[in-house]
Amino acid sequence: MPRIVETIVTTIDASGVSHIAPLGLIADGNGWIVAPFQPSRTLDNLRTVPFAVASHTDDVRVFAGCITGRRDWPLIAADRVRGVRLAEALTHWELEVKSVTEDEQRPRFHCRIVHQATHAPFEGFNRAQAAVIECAVLVTRLKMLPPEKVEAELKYLDIAIAKTAGEREQVAWSWLMERIDAWRRDQAKPGN
Ligand SMILES: Cc1cc2nc3c(=O)[nH]c(=O)nc-3n(C[C@H](O)[C@H](O)[C@H](O)COP(=O)(O)O)c2cc1C
Repeated sequence: MPRIVETIVTTIDASGVSHIAPLGLIADGNGWIVAPFQPSRTLDNLRTVPFAVASHTDDVRVFAGCITGRRDWPLIAADRVRGVRLAEALTHWELEVKSVTEDEQRPRFHCRIVHQATHAPFEGFNRAQAAVIECAVLVTRLKMLPPEKVEAELKYLDIAIAKTAGEREQVAWSWLMERIDAWRRDQAKPGN
């Protein structure tokens, strides 16, 4: 399996309106593959404007926020490509689409890095950050997974939150737990 980097991808549409979403970039030699599922704004944008910006951030509120309807994160213009990046990114890559491998579910946009820059220091690993990212992925897959598996994973991830979370991780976790609570209420409804 190739290495995958979980990051914040910004794309723009033909009129320059930006879209932000967490995506996993897949290592591809010297380049990276962006693989958005059909249908998605990221996919539509990449077909129209073949550039993406990957903002690497340790602020996991952005991951949890984007998938819980909180997409209003400060963005600034990219340096070389048409697009924007997270203002608070630690580092960012500006990507140009070189080719597309079509697929009914998940087309693959093969990209090369045309520019990269570092803005702030990396301040070490934190288990709660990893737990938030895992939980964010889980939240996007609630309809596909058996409820027992979801509950077992949450129980495990909660340990890292309880032991190592700072304020940003706690906020991110609380946003995800709102979604989990709504899902639990749905599960409890008759017929489910
Ligand atoms: C850590 C993480 C990685 C993700 N990776 C992908 C991905 O590679 N492809 C994808 O389509 N969605 C991925 N998702 C889900 C998208 O962020 C989410 O479905 C998003 O809204 C995409 O649709 P949009 O472009 O219409 O916003 C990921 C979510 C998280 C939290």
